[in-house]
Amino acid sequence: MGACWSNRIKAETPSHTEVNSKNVSRDGKNLSSSSGKTSSFSLPPTPRSEGEILQSSNLKNFSFSDLKTATRNFRPDSVLGEGGFGSVFKGWVDEHSLTASRPGTGMVIAVKRLNQEGFQGHKEWLTEINYLGQLYHPNLVKLIGYCLEDEHRLLVYEFMPRGSMENHLFRRGSHFQPLSWSLRMKIALGAAKGLAFLHSAEPKVIYRDFKTSNILLDSNYNAKLSDFGLARDGPTGDKSHVSTRVMGTYGYAAPEYLATGHLTAKSDIYSFGVVLLEMLSGRRAIDKNRPSGEHNLVEWAKPYLMNKRRIFRVLDPRLEGQYSLPQAQRSAALALQCLAMEPKCRPDMDEVVKELEQFQDSRNMRKKAQKEHHGKGHFHSNVRRTSYPRPSASPLRG
Ligand SMILES: Nc1ncnc2c1ncn2[C@@H]1O[C@H](COP(=O)(O)OP(=O)(O)OP(=O)(O)O)[C@@H](O)[C@H]1O
Ligand SMILES: [Mg+2]
Repeated sequence: MGACWSNRIKAETPSHTEVNSKNVSRDGKNLSSSSGKTSSFSLPPTPRSEGEILQSSNLKNFSFSDLKTATRNFRPDSVLGEGGFGSVFKGWVDEHSLTASRPGTGMVIAVKRLNQEGFQGHKEWLTEINYLGQLYHPNLVKLIGYCLEDEHRLLVYEFMPRGSMENHLFRRGSHFQPLSWSLRMKIALGAAKGLAFLHSAEPKVIYRDFKTSNILLDSNYNAKLSDFGLARDGPTGDKSHVSTRVMGTYGYAAPEYLATGHLTAKSDIYSFGVVLLEMLSGRRAIDKNRPSGEHNLVEWAKPYLMNKRRIFRVLDPRLEGQYSLPQAQRSAALALQCLAMEPKCRPDMDEVVKELEQFQDSRNMRKKAQKEHHGKGHFHSNVRRTSYPRPSASPLRG
């Protein structure tokens, strides 16, 4: 389940009453300027009214009774998770007509039902529709439709069979085995690609709520970003930032954003650094159950990250040393760069993607090398693996 509501930073700027539109191509690659003339999929200029947003979006408008049937009356045993805005239920619809189907038949969906009364919840609901209704990318979760009926506000997404990254990293139990190093890096790359796509828009889309509970996983551990309720258009023209009141989640929000409310894409990069650190360490961004001095992951880990020989102190013991030391050092260095206090010193998302892609390349090369070696009857790999940490006393082989 996601960070509790109290962890969320709730204040919102009075000026953030508009919901901006974007001009994007359906393939999610070419984002054009606000004129939309070069785009294959242009939209009316901003700001748009609620009616316009809902009508022009390419989404199915579900009736409440349809979603009630699809989720078997929002049965408690079909709850997939709960967040600050309500519960998420599993449901079934016919894949062509999108009408409710018998449980276990047709297409599986995830239905988020807002239990927050009032304007704020509605505004985030609408922002989500505005962005996700128009942005298409393999690393963004697909929004199928919505329901607006009386006081009901629901969102209907593609179902992500492996749930959230948060559950895999922090939940214990037979259902959640520790994620391997290569899966962690695969997920980090997928999430980075999602963010890079948002930042490639003109103006950039600033996601503002990058955290492990918002990274959802399909059956192959492909990562998709969800929850666009806090997303905002970035600065335009010669402006360096947009001014907002601070929103997001404690532990992930960039320090300069918390202090000033000045929002830039670099705030997302900081949050990425926090998430990468969570993946490397298996520790939560904020964990009050740890000894004092270790509550705040970034503060605790930074001194270790700065020293190549001490980074193993940060690495998740559940990895049991199954990583290549050079990769671990490079990913720790990448996290440190993203967490730079000075926003300008943080890399762009494209640079982050490039770095993480190299990890995948070297993994593929290692696999190939291993295959060849096995074929020749060799048993060793030529890639150096770390000899530490060794959490349990196991006999060392020469
Ligand atoms: N499309 C989906 N497919 C499968 N599971 C989902 C889907 N969307 C959400 N979930 C599950 O429901 C949980 C709750 O999601 P939700 O976005 O409401 O809250 P959160 O991200 O955990 O927390 P917060 O409200 O702080 O953002 C997720 O963590 C995930 O486990
Ligand atoms: Mg979420």
